[in-house]
Amino acid sequence: MERIPDRLLCAPDAHRLEHMSAAAFADSELIRTTSWARPDLWFIDRQGELLCGCVGVVWRRIVADGTPVRVGGVASLVVAPEARGAGLGARLLGRALEEMRAMPAIAAGMLLCDHALVPFYVRLGWRRVTASVRCMQRGGEVDWTGAAMCHTLVASALDSARTVRLNGLPW
Ligand SMILES: CC(C)(COP(=O)(O)OP(=O)(O)OC[C@H]1O[C@@H](n2cnc3c(N)ncnc32)[C@H](O)[C@@H]1OP(=O)(O)O)[C@@H](O)C(=O)NCCC(=O)NCCS
Repeated sequence: MERIPDRLLCAPDAHRLEHMSAAAFADSELIRTTSWARPDLWFIDRQGELLCGCVGVVWRRIVADGTPVRVGGVASLVVAPEARGAGLGARLLGRALEEMRAMPAIAAGMLLCDHALVPFYVRLGWRRVTASVRCMQRGGEVDWTGAAMCHTLVASALDSARTVRLNGLPW
């Protein structure tokens, strides 16, 4: 699996990632109509020229009930249709978490998804964030209406928060 900081991503790869995401989320109105933060880092799996899957990581200082908490955001987890069902999604997610674990200041992994994906993440050890989640969109701060999931690495205010502000665009 390749590890590529976003600033080192070549134009053809950036184009491939965009294309793969657009195809994967074409049926999800929530995902399609949301403005997303650009990941800081990518993990990419490919076979020869073919991109099989990717996941992005966003480093962000969120605010949980007024307390700053550093999280690693999991963004754009996508596996190409022909490569699905063989554990690649789980491996990409695991690789993103491994990167977060290596950063002592990161208290948790966090991701935003459609409600339909919750069982997939629960099976992989993630839990629902029950707090209301606020994020930026054009025009100001809004409530995130999809599901939010987290994976605790170190106990933090996120674990029991009632309101979480993402401090920027969602990922
Ligand atoms: C979700 C996704 C990344 C999983 O990739 P994958 O490589 O197939 O994942 P794994 O092989 O590790 O796990 C597959 C399992 O996830 C389940 N799964 C996949 N998509 C699901 C969904 N939308 N809802 C519920 N379960 C889902 C599969 O049913 C399968 O379950 P099984 O093992 O009991 O058969 C892939 O289906 C995908 O790219 N989907 C479109 C983009 C997307 O929704 N990404 C998540 C962004 S939040």
